[in-house]
Amino acid sequence: MNMVKVRAVLSTTLLAVFIGVLFVTVGVFYTTKTGHPFFGMTKPQLFKIRNVLGPLMNALIIVHLTINWGMYTRELKVLFRR
Ligand code: HEM
Repeated sequence: MNMVKVRAVLSTTLLAVFIGVLFVTVGVFYTTKTGHPFFGMTKPQLFKIRNVLGPLMNALIIVHLTINWGMYTRELKVLFRR
């Protein structure tokens, strides 16, 4: 698999996990404010999902940042070029 495809697979996975984290975050906020379940899930259940998605997203971000590091440093050079 070439690097563009590796980047695309990783970024898409990252986006999917991010949407999951966003959903759980809204759910925790909702259950805290109302005391009602969110899509049938209680706050402890939402926390369980968050405890899986959170570390997974952090791990994906570390890999994402590592493979995009070269691109990022080139951007910084352009930013600080006089
Ligand atoms: C929802 C989470 C994220 C998504 C969907 C995402 C998506 C993308 C995409 C599509 C690219 C273009 C290159 C590629 O496909 O790999 C990219 C580049 C990049 N991303 Fe992310 N990203 C996310 C989060 C992050 C985070 C949290 C960081 C930093 C800690 C980061 C750092 C970078 C860097 C440094 C680049 C290189 C290009 C640039 O500096 O603009 N990304 N990202």
